[in-house]
Amino acid sequence: MLEGKIALVTGASSGIGLAVARAVVAGGGKVALVARTEANLREAARELGPERAAIYPLDVTDLARLEELPARVLERFGALDLLVNNAGLNHRGPALQFTPRQLGDVITTNLTAAVVLARAAAPHLRQGGAIVNVASLAGMVPVPHEAAYSASKAGLRAFSRVLHGELRARGIHVGIVSPGPVDTNFFGDLAKAPALNFSQPMSTAEQVAEAVLRCWRERRVEIALPWFSGKLCTLGYVSPRLMRVLRPALERRGERNKRALIERRSARKA
Ligand SMILES: NC(=O)c1ccc[n+]([C@@H]2O[C@H](COP(=O)([O-])OP(=O)(O)OC[C@H]3O[C@@H](n4cnc5c(N)ncnc54)[C@H](OP(=O)(O)O)[C@@H]3O)[C@@H](O)[C@H]2O)c1
Repeated sequence: MLEGKIALVTGASSGIGLAVARAVVAGGGKVALVARTEANLREAARELGPERAAIYPLDVTDLARLEELPARVLERFGALDLLVNNAGLNHRGPALQFTPRQLGDVITTNLTAAVVLARAAAPHLRQGGAIVNVASLAGMVPVPHEAAYSASKAGLRAFSRVLHGELRARGIHVGIVSPGPVDTNFFGDLAKAPALNFSQPMSTAEQVAEAVLRCWRERRVEIALPWFSGKLCTLGYVSPRLMRVLRPALERRGERNKRALIERRSARKA
């Protein structure tokens, strides 16, 4: 299915985005890699092969340059089949602790940039192509001390669902992948991350990448992972009261998992 296909992936220099890029190239496709740090993009392109990967160093909050991106990818590869909006930002802590600019950056990176890029890319996507947006379980059940992040991911889910209906008639699929915790660098300082984040089993970046491609292949509106966590979050969304009752037990479990993860990571470093 990926043979000869062209993908544009934001946040492609590490974690989930890099795993998507690797999977596309392994399947015979080519990728346009977007992230801010050029050196990391160059390293990723070296690994993937210069004829299979092109780099676009760019901050997705630069909306004017972002809008031009699909046309630049078309110039380079001649076609576009898949857009993966994956670049993300989180500032963890009470909302009032952050400046308006910091909170706005979370919304711009996770939501506005994805909206702008989807709008710019959609007219260029080949028939049968797709836009897959990487949201989060936090977009289903908001996480304490992640107000702007949870709001941005809830917004991204809503946007994607509406766009799904609008583009279906044009043969373009729009889907969402909503992961629970994933073993990447995204948590930064683990000690600061809320315990609730770790109450669910952790996925690997490769598992999320597989879900991104399955979302396109099977034309799924949304894939939450792990599966059971997705069901639990749907229940929590329908009944916030039930979530309030379950939350202390989930936080205790999350605290245990978080301690184990910190130990595993420091053992890996040693
Ligand atoms: N890890 C998790 O537990 C988890 C759970 C649910 C959802 N997610 C979502 O998954 C997505 C990917 O996260 P990850 O876990 O793979 O994190 P990661 O390993 O930290 O990768 C983030 C990627 O995004 C790029 N990026 C960040 N800000 C950017 C910007 N303004 N413009 C362009 N590129 C930018 C980073 O490169 P530069 O820094 O060089 O720009 C990097 O390539 C995010 O949307 C996140 O919200 C993650």
